[in-house]
Amino acid sequence: MELREWAISILSADQLDQKLVCPQSLTDHEPGSSLIWSEPVRPTGMSLRRRTREEKLPSFQELNKSDNRAICLHRFAGHELLAVEMMAFTLLAFPEAPKRFRIGLANTLKEEQGHVRIYINRMQQLGIQFGDLPLYRHFWNHTPFIRSPLHYISIMSLTFEMANLDFAPMYGKLFQRFGDPESAKVMAIILKDEISHVRFGWNWLRQFKEIDQTEWDTWEMMLTTTLLNPKRARGFVLQEAARLQANIPQEWIDKLKLL
Ligand SMILES: [Fe+2]
Ligand SMILES: [Fe+2]
Repeated sequence: MELREWAISILSADQLDQKLVCPQSLTDHEPGSSLIWSEPVRPTGMSLRRRTREEKLPSFQELNKSDNRAICLHRFAGHELLAVEMMAFTLLAFPEAPKRFRIGLANTLKEEQGHVRIYINRMQQLGIQFGDLPLYRHFWNHTPFIRSPLHYISIMSLTFEMANLDFAPMYGKLFQRFGDPESAKVMAIILKDEISHVRFGWNWLRQFKEIDQTEWDTWEMMLTTTLLNPKRARGFVLQEAARLQANIPQEWIDKLKLL
């Protein structure tokens, strides 16, 4: 299947399974012309809602209850599904991007589909189905700002996915502390994949940036054209080791710490 066809089927699917389909063989012979997808089609009951203040995640102390841990997993699965759709959006928006970029992005998309599945599996074991709770627009609000592959890696890989290098292990530790090693294991799998997604972003930032600009300045400059504050690239406790594994240089990490 062609990447373009796959991305369209993901964004236009009204069944969850169809959004999680990953063809055995993917080709990119006919990327076509740029297509800016305005809104993903969603299955009944899974449409994108605006989140209100009352719909916050349970507090850390409340994670002793499995119901509350399931609520977190449901929210995280929602984020993963949005990532799937934003990656499909990016494949359609930038047919002229380097082939290696598009193939790498497609591989990342497949892993995000896998993340949706493992969260679904774990939340079912904790007694809820994906779609039982509201799903939010969240990341999708940022798609109009993805105006180039460089915007994509700045927003997705080096901000949202980079922040997950802090959030995933934080929740992993909390789940473990409250006697739920299975959910902690899920977070460890996510973290391992996120490290490679951040590394993908870093590698392409180095290739896309202007020669006379630093990586950091390029990233910060890209974010000024979005709604995002650079602080969104970190969680409460900054995990240095995970960033170093993603090839992020110490200098960048030190700058991020000061934000
Ligand atoms: Fe993910
Ligand atoms: Fe990711």
